[in-house]
Amino acid sequence: MQALLRSIYSRHLRPLLFSLDPEMAHELAGSMGVGLSALPGMPELLSGQFRFSADSLKQNLVGVDFPNPVGLAAGFDKTGELFPFLEHLGFGFIESGTFTANIQPGNVRPRLFRFPEEGALVNRMGFNNPGAVAAAAILGEQRRNIPRGINVGKSKATPLKLAGADYAESISRLARFGDYLAINISSPNTPGLRELQGRSALRELLLAVKEAIAAAGALPLFVKIAPDITPAELDMILAVLLEMSVDGVIISNTTVERDEHSAARAVPGGLSGRPLRERSCELVRQCYRAAGDRLVIVGVGGIFNGDDVIERLRAGAHLVQVYTGFVYGGPWLPGDLNRHLAGFLEAEGLSLSELRGSGA
Ligand SMILES: Cc1cc2nc3c(=O)[nH]c(=O)nc-3n(C[C@H](O)[C@H](O)[C@H](O)COP(=O)(O)O)c2cc1C
Repeated sequence: MQALLRSIYSRHLRPLLFSLDPEMAHELAGSMGVGLSALPGMPELLSGQFRFSADSLKQNLVGVDFPNPVGLAAGFDKTGELFPFLEHLGFGFIESGTFTANIQPGNVRPRLFRFPEEGALVNRMGFNNPGAVAAAAILGEQRRNIPRGINVGKSKATPLKLAGADYAESISRLARFGDYLAINISSPNTPGLRELQGRSALRELLLAVKEAIAAAGALPLFVKIAPDITPAELDMILAVLLEMSVDGVIISNTTVERDEHSAARAVPGGLSGRPLRERSCELVRQCYRAAGDRLVIVGVGGIFNGDDVIERLRAGAHLVQVYTGFVYGGPWLPGDLNRHLAGFLEAEGLSLSELRGSGA
């Protein structure tokens, strides 16, 4: 049965989706999925089809039970509406958002571009999202069977010096719907956002964020950073995160760098996928060497197959996330990655925590 469905997907549905404008394909796939998962009995059927479970893949980190280490990165479920479908595809956790305090249309279309030969995407979405008030109404209707991260960012209209209050507004409305909170200070598509990675701006932002989290009911705090930083900048950021008792770091967002021969060179926005793999992995390695067990490390960027997952865990990640690999790989990817990882752990006689950091 699974072989038949995989073949239908790769011979019919995938070519159809890839013949459409990328954002339209995303919307179509999302609404088909949400429609399907609302049918009686479908959630169980979908989970049976896509989910791979093994005790060796379970972890409790900062009080959260992750059934497996393969998550869906932020930006796929920008409204929160796709979660009831996506949670059946075998992910160990899903990060919804980025949500902002203001409702935002994002940048003009087209704003998402495929580069299949390079295994890459470029996006300049610009935090299109329903805003924290409407998002709270969407999230409040949903139950969750796997951990959910709530990713928040700064509203475009809010000046950088008022960023703290803007993040705090989203946190106060949305924190109760998540198992962890992710602060996005690294999208290249909101002008000036990455300046929040500077030492004093980051300290000030984290003070406001921590106050908002304490008021909303404690939950773990992760910070998502950009790949376009020097080793010294990463050290500085890590020092601030540790000083401010942040729980985890998500490495990394998309890059503004381009290879000189890349077809994506002429297209402005954040580049994701294969070209990001080595860079993100190296930053995870550096982070693990500096922070060890003091931060939960979420490795994201260019993960397409099971070996990429193993490489990222060996570099020091506790968890990984996929986005571009999932777009190109399709709905069986999370299960396939987990099956590969569990097989590897068994063959090597290793636990996840023994694997973690063994190549740092
Ligand atoms: C279309 C698109 C939209 C994204 N939107 C967000 C976002 O809203 N917030 C965020 O933190 N990251 C966002 N990202 C970045 C991803 O979460 C991820 O960090 C990045 O794509 C690297 O992972 P990948 O190589 O597996 O795609 C987006 C990425 C893509 C491709």
